[in-house]
Formats: sequence, C-alpha cells, structure tokens
Amino acid sequence: MKKGLFIVLEGPDRSGKSTQAALLKTWLEERGREVVVTREPGGTRLSEQIRKILLDPKSVIEPMTELFLYETSRIKHTLEKIIPALKAGKVIISDRYTLSTTAYQGYGRGLDLKTVETLNKIATMNLKPDLTIVFDIPDRIFAQREHLRNGRDRIERAPDAFRRRVNRAYKLLARKPGMTRVDAGRPIEAIQAEIRARVQPVLGRGAKK
Ligand code: TYD
Repeated sequence: MKKGLFIVLEGPDRSGKSTQAALLKTWLEERGREVVVTREPGGTRLSEQIRKILLDPKSVIEPMTELFLYETSRIKHTLEKIIPALKAGKVIISDRYTLSTTAYQGYGRGLDLKTVETLNKIATMNLKPDLTIVFDIPDRIFAQREHLRNGRDRIERAPDAFRRRVNRAYKLLARKPGMTRVDAGRPIEAIQAEIRARVQPVLGRGAKK
C-alpha cells in the first residue's frame, strides 16, 4: 500500500535537475520528511551497472536494445528502491523516470511511442509519480549549453539532431495533462521557489506530516 510521495524531475541533459533535487531534499527534510534522492538509469547496484553500459561511449547499442536496457534498469530500481521507500512513507525524488524513455527513445530515437508506453507500464508495474516536474530550457540557453557539452557520455555524444528532437519532445510533453512545467532558464533560486510551490500542495498526501 502506497503511503509516501513520489516526485520525478525530467528534462533534457544539463537542465539543472540534480541541483534542484538536492535543494528540494533539504527543504523537505527541514519539514520533517524523510527523503531519498535517486536517479535513472541507476539507483540500485544492478541498475548502476546497466547505467555504465548505457553511457559508455564504447558501447554499440541499437535503439531497441537501448530501450530494453533502460527499462530493465527501471524494473530493478522500482522494485528495490522506489516501492520500498514509498511503503515506508518517505518522499522519493527521482532524477528521470518513464518520461525520459518517451523523450529519448521514443521521440529521439524514433521508436514506436506505443511500444515505449507499453514497456514503461510493464517496467513500473503501473506505478505513477505523484508529481512529474518537467524542466523546460529556452532554445537560446539550450544552444549555449550544447557548446559546453564536450561529449562526455554516449547519449551526450549522440548527433545534434537527436538532441534537438529530445529537447522539442520535452517542450511538447511538458504541456500534457498531469505534467508540471517549470521554466529552467531562470536563476537556481527562482526555479527552486517554483518547485517548492508545486510540491507544497501534494505534501499532505504522504504518510507523515
Ligand atoms: P545522466 O548523466 O544522468 O544525465 P543528466 O545528468 O543530464 O540527467 O545520464 C542519463 C542519460 O540517459 C541522459 O542523457 C538521458 C538518458 N536516458 C534515456 O535516454 N532514456 C531513459 O529512459 C533515461 C532514464 C535516461
């Protein structure tokens, strides 16, 4: 039985999600909540091993293989980390979840969106976040950050056209029902203030006050 609160941060690479996750954690802890910050791909030993394979620039991975690897990492993460945290009444903040697969493997790689949706459902056992906050980066800032990217991991080294498709997908997905869009082109404090204002109303849903 679910008692905790499940918050997901989504957006293109370099949109500042991890900085915001850390600030949100501190704020929630000050309010007496137990908070777990996690990420995808990753969050468990096995999922972190899959992450290494996925992000290694030397890995040669076809789009469908890539899709299944992200989903495999997600099943383990959901079972071993997210569901237990929710059962214990904690707030779990995940840097990425199913919307990333829709954006990157669906819109970015061009895989069938229905297939992605089906696998997302299977991998999460239909668990839905209470809040999905989508970071929307203005095109001007996206272009600036692209220059600084230096191609660190395999996904960051993907062609510019792929990265632009992902960015466009997030803009589209941010406006879908149930999504909470934040303008991530502003100073860190302004973004955090908006995130807190969006989290506050759902806080009461968790187990503890
Ligand atoms: P990460 O370094 O965590 O990116 P960021 O810090 O920008 O969030 O690397 C995760 C990469 O994996 C990122 O480029 C997005 C990609 N990804 C997918 O393509 N599909 C997915 O389902 C997930 C969860 C991530």
